[in-house]
Amino acid sequence: MTDAHAAARGVGVVVVAAGSGARLRAGLPKAFVALAGRPLLAHSLDTVAAVPGVASVAVVVPADLLDPSGPAWSGVSLPPGAVVVAGGAERTASVAAGLASLDPSCDVVLVHDAARCLTPVAVFARVVAAVRAGAAGVVPGIPVVDTIKVVDAAGVVTSTPPRESLRAVQTPQGFRREVLLAAHAAGAGATDDAALVEALGHDVLVVEGDVRAHKVTTPDDLAQAERLLAAPTTGGRP
Ligand code: C5P
Repeated sequence: MTDAHAAARGVGVVVVAAGSGARLRAGLPKAFVALAGRPLLAHSLDTVAAVPGVASVAVVVPADLLDPSGPAWSGVSLPPGAVVVAGGAERTASVAAGLASLDPSCDVVLVHDAARCLTPVAVFARVVAAVRAGAAGVVPGIPVVDTIKVVDAAGVVTSTPPRESLRAVQTPQGFRREVLLAAHAAGAGATDDAALVEALGHDVLVVEGDVRAHKVTTPDDLAQAERLLAAPTTGGRP
């Protein structure tokens, strides 16, 4: 531990893997679908294990897959000391379950989608560094290439935000632990944790994301992830 980080007490990581993955149509929860012969979750946890400063890991899975010795877990290496807990019906509930299971001595918490299984270690490091530098919340993001429309319930466009101001955000999202705890105590139902933190009035900083942090959602995404892993120049987890 350096002098500059003398107050740092460790990074806790919640890996949410309790979604059903209905859009992947694979017949089992998305995080347990195979990519290059191993579950998406295995790839995500390999990366988490390589992130400097990680002191506590909570892996949040469907209630019927809690046993890491079960067949669905074949090929998954749990980081040392990781706990496995059951998720909830909504992503927010799954994050809250993981957050409650982390070592409370961690001062920084990252929340990561298991489905973003090729996210480079460097993205984790950027997020941690920005939280350590003082941000209440930090998300990786990339510029959007499409023009985005806001529509009403009838599908009529109500506005067109300037594209330069938009970012597609990814995970890991990082927070000071007490900020994320307060945000979850105050709200629910958001599609990401940053939205809960924003709702409390905190600034959330966007740092550079990575196309490899794309979330596997559809069969096409899975095929693209297979290609990325196979490509000698972009594969692996730098
Ligand atoms: O459904 P979506 O693709 O947005 O899920 C993002 C991440 O959140 C996935 O890794 C998924 O496993 C997780 N999740 C969860 N509990 C839920 C819903 C999603 O852990 N109830």
